[in-house]
Amino acid sequence: MTNDNRMYKALPVAKLAISAHSVDQYGVGTKRLRIGRSISRLRTGQRSHNKVRSKGIRRQKAGGASQMELSIQELAAKHSASKDANYLSFYASQFDGIRHQIKNVIELGVQGGGSVKMWRDYFPRAQIFGVDIDDCSAAAQGERIRFFQGRQEDGELLKMITDQIEGGQFDIIIDDAAHFGLYSKLTYEHLFDGHLKPGGTYIIEDWGTGYWDDWPDGSRPDPVSHEMENRDVKDTKFIYREDEATGLLPRTFHSHQCGMVGFVKQLVDESHHGAIKTAIPRRTSKFQYMIVTEGVVLIKKK
Ligand SMILES: C[S@@+](CC[C@H](N)C(=O)[O-])C[C@H]1O[C@@H](n2cnc3c(N)ncnc32)[C@H](O)[C@@H]1O
Repeated sequence: MTNDNRMYKALPVAKLAISAHSVDQYGVGTKRLRIGRSISRLRTGQRSHNKVRSKGIRRQKAGGASQMELSIQELAAKHSASKDANYLSFYASQFDGIRHQIKNVIELGVQGGGSVKMWRDYFPRAQIFGVDIDDCSAAAQGERIRFFQGRQEDGELLKMITDQIEGGQFDIIIDDAAHFGLYSKLTYEHLFDGHLKPGGTYIIEDWGTGYWDDWPDGSRPDPVSHEMENRDVKDTKFIYREDEATGLLPRTFHSHQCGMVGFVKQLVDESHHGAIKTAIPRRTSKFQYMIVTEGVVLIKKK
């Protein structure tokens, strides 16, 4: 989808974030435009999937006739899913080989229903569950799609949904809802341990909102000089220890922590949890691996 469409889909999030009493603080009217511009900025240089078509794969049917299986790019275009071209090619690289093995998928954040229809056709044997704070039931309906209205961070709603699937566990969970660090963290805490299959995939989209000044829980990263250049500055953000070779060795490296960015960095800690000796009880990471791309975090569960 185009940047303009991406802007459009973000608007309900902005409205949600700004409660009646905080309208003055944020200025709702102008905020809508500013969020749109930020999103466009993030996407600069990326082509819409409408312009990127990868060829579908020809599958041999049991009877000998073959049928064209559409690529994720073609399905996104067909259903007007709001996914950028680089997200789609990343998903193709991860899932093309296992399309027929996926049974249960949940996407938090449905909006126009395009992405749940894309997932439904991309994973031909899967049941797709969609959750949105708005009523998307008219758009998100059809064979193998079930829509639930509610908040992504509502543990009771998520439990009610997971109770309805065999084994209570999804193959794939996609968080494309509010794009606020706290909500994404709560969703992860409700779903990851108990409701994602071993070997399952957890996806968080659009984590770059944490770098945006005009996003409710984001902010522009603090310009930080190089760690080594700060050794003589008294009021430094860095903590140093004596080092024979360099004089002072920085022990801390300043890093941005706002909103989704801060939450993603907590997930980095989880990816090497085995090294945290103070953890009680000691345990290894829950992750097989975590891939961070521009816009998407993908975690493969052990
Ligand atoms: C980015 S759009 C989803 C786009 C869709 N996944 C697609 O790719 O076409 C985000 C959606 O999340 C919804 N949303 C915002 N905050 C939410 C929350 N706390 N819980 C559930 N949905 C929320 C919005 O109503 C909006 O429809």
